[in-house]
Amino acid sequence: MPTLTINGTVHRVDAPPDMPLLWVIRDLIGLKGTKFGCGIAQCGACTVLLDGRATRSCILPVSATAGQAITTIEGLDDASGRAVKAAWQELAVPQCGYCQSGQVLAASDLLRRNPRPSDDQIAKHMAGNICRCCTYHRIKQAVRRAADGLA
Ligand code: FES
Ligand code: FES
Repeated sequence: MPTLTINGTVHRVDAPPDMPLLWVIRDLIGLKGTKFGCGIAQCGACTVLLDGRATRSCILPVSATAGQAITTIEGLDDASGRAVKAAWQELAVPQCGYCQSGQVLAASDLLRRNPRPSDDQIAKHMAGNICRCCTYHRIKQAVRRAADGLA
C-alpha cells in the first residue's frame, strides 16, 4: 500500500503501484485542483511539484513517488508560490481556468530555481504548459510580476 506525502500530510492509499499519481491525487485523495488534460505528458494540466520540481502526474506511477514531497495547487504556500498566486490574481490571468493550476505550479518551480528569469527563460520554461484559452501573454506578465514581488 503506497504511502505518499501530499501538501505535508501523509496518506496511505489503496492503489496499485502503477496507478498514475494524478488518479491517486484526484480520485483517492480527493484533491481536484490537479487536472487531467491529455494523459500523455503533452499539456501540463496535471503538473504537481515533486520535491519542488514541476512534474507531470498523469504518467508518473505512484510507486515512483516514494519518499518525495508532493505539492499540489491546494498546498502551494512557499514564497515563490505565494508570489505567483498573487500575481495571477492581480493580472486576472485565468480564462476558463482549466490549465491554470499547472501553469501556477510550473511558474513557481521556475522562480524557486531562478528568481530573476529572462523573457526567453520564462517562455522556454512555460512552453510545455498548454492553454486552450491562449492566456499566454498574461501568464508571461504574471511570471514577471511575481519575480518583481520576490525581489
Ligand atoms: S494531463 Fe498530464 S501532461 Fe496533459
Ligand atoms: S485558461 Fe482555459 S485552458 Fe488555460
